Amino acid sequence: MPKLIIDDIPLEVPDGTTVLEAARSVDIPIPHFCWHPALGRAGACRVCAVKMLDGPVKGLQMSCMLPAQEGMVVSTTDPEAMAMRKGVIEWLMINHPHDCPVCDEGGECQLQDFTIAGGHGLRRYDGRKRTYNNQYLGEFIEHEMNRCIQCYRCARFYQEYAGGTDFGVMGRAAMVYFGRQQDGPLESPFSGNLVDICPTGVFTDKTARFRARYWDYDMAPSVCPHCSLGCNITPAARYRELLKVIARRNDKVNGWFICDRGRFSNQAVNAPERPRQALLDGKPATRDEALETLVGRLTEFLELHGPESLAIVGSPRMSLEGNIMAGRLRELIGAGALCYFNAEDDAERTMQAVSMLNGDNAASQHDVREADLAVILDCDLLAEAPMMALAVRQAWRNGARVYVVGRGNTMPFEFVTVASLADVPLTDAKRPVFISGIRHKGIASQSGAKLAFILDGPNAFGCALLARDQGAVPLSTAIAGGKVRGIVSFEADIPAEMAQGIRILAAADWRATETMQRAEIVLPATAWVEQEGTFVNHEGRAQRFRQVMQPGLPIKGLDPAGHPPRVHRKTPPGGDLLPSWLIAAELLERLSGEQAVEPLSGEWERLRGLDAEGEGFLFFINKQINSSEVQ
Ligand code: FES
Repeated sequence: MPKLIIDDIPLEVPDGTTVLEAARSVDIPIPHFCWHPALGRAGACRVCAVKMLDGPVKGLQMSCMLPAQEGMVVSTTDPEAMAMRKGVIEWLMINHPHDCPVCDEGGECQLQDFTIAGGHGLRRYDGRKRTYNNQYLGEFIEHEMNRCIQCYRCARFYQEYAGGTDFGVMGRAAMVYFGRQQDGPLESPFSGNLVDICPTGVFTDKTARFRARYWDYDMAPSVCPHCSLGCNITPAARYRELLKVIARRNDKVNGWFICDRGRFSNQAVNAPERPRQALLDGKPATRDEALETLVGRLTEFLELHGPESLAIVGSPRMSLEGNIMAGRLRELIGAGALCYFNAEDDAERTMQAVSMLNGDNAASQHDVREADLAVILDCDLLAEAPMMALAVRQAWRNGARVYVVGRGNTMPFEFVTVASLADVPLTDAKRPVFISGIRHKGIASQSGAKLAFILDGPNAFGCALLARDQGAVPLSTAIAGGKVRGIVSFEADIPAEMAQGIRILAAADWRATETMQRAEIVLPATAWVEQEGTFVNHEGRAQRFRQVMQPGLPIKGLDPAGHPPRVHRKTPPGGDLLPSWLIAAELLERLSGEQAVEPLSGEWERLRGLDAEGEGFLFFINKQINSSEVQ
């Protein structure tokens, strides 16, 4: 633990900390381009110069390359250091096109920030600039090599961190080129991180190109809904259109990155076919009329068939709040079945995860990155939870052994395939993790091993918690019982063949699903970016997502008419939507005549103060609460 002084601030830092990291720990900013917290140092850009005034090292030094040592006295504001940094910026800008007004990175560009902060405002160089041809890198990422400052972050991330092989750095004389051998879509499922990691505008998000500046966006901390890992994201929207998704740092979960599915698979939010109008037997109605009719039909249905013939169906893709309210609705009606999962398999596996995990044995992505042995059971990680594959790769890069039980698909790390768990030598592992795939059954708790279950849906764990407490059953089981004649569903995808001959009395959802098409009463709901809510991820970590944007038809107009109707009204066109939990609450109120209680009450109340920008809250079934996790 060396002690040193930086800009007159004495501090003590862990061994191995660099001077740049030490300065950041006390909020002293040092310009940097090639250094990145997740990638470490490269010493490529030379912009992090500081002056060592005293101690074991003297003179101008690159702070990202220099480990903090006992007795160092560092100045970040010494005139010599500042002149060096200014000079570096000036030479980096010699070839940069200065095209900030037409560059999508403008306003969120590290090069722009440090150039302005360093005081470089006038170009003295009037020679020709080095120029390159750009490449087509697929439909998601735009390439503009002229902006490159050769920090090597892209190649280091793509090849070293993510294991990609189709992109890298090539050089000839004074020309260095970051790209592919030839034009073509980037193959890595993590390629979108180039957009976040490039400190200037070489790689920008093509899907949001020329649509907004950083300050135009509606943004809020959110959680990815595309698998059970709960990676942290910042969706960015403008004019009621979700334009792009940026990775958000959470060291316990995704670290700094996200996968391409999480980044580029969100067009359903803007889809013109998205349900925005309540329907009564296929005809437009107000939400009020739809709910009133539903109350009448439900009463009639219950009188005719009895409560046991009704199933209330929630889903692992709906927020915890929505599923809690679905449970309350069932309680009020006394419905015969409450279902959160369609298939028995799914329900069983998720319940198993919930019953086995506790505060000590649940493996976060961070635990996987730190593991010295990873065992993957019956799982195609890249398909089921790509970021978990990236986490395993980091463990493997640090020397961990990786075993795949069963059939192994191509992965961004080397592994040994074994026939069964018994073939994995566990004895000398200090930090083993077991990662069980969606299809795997029957993993036993291994002594000392942490467990990660890849579940099906962003809130599958939350649903399993509720299912256990409320005696929910899989929908297939409820239907097989032969009593179910009617269903009220919330954000559920009910296979038509499963519910043959059963009335879908009403469905609430933000997606145009088959269930919504079959429903007698359609209740359109807000998407996750249009509401606040909670997902519980695969390890039992409750995470809050905030409302990013107002619901409504995007102004750009994805509908064939080209623009939402130009009329004066209180809500934007297509924006008269409620979150599913509020739809359920309205139904509860109309059925009971009493005001519905807010979803996060009773044992869920402790989740109310959950900080969306914190690390989340480990909410295990055995209620072992680690108070340090409460944000
Ligand atoms: Fe230190 Fe680039 S940040 S050399």
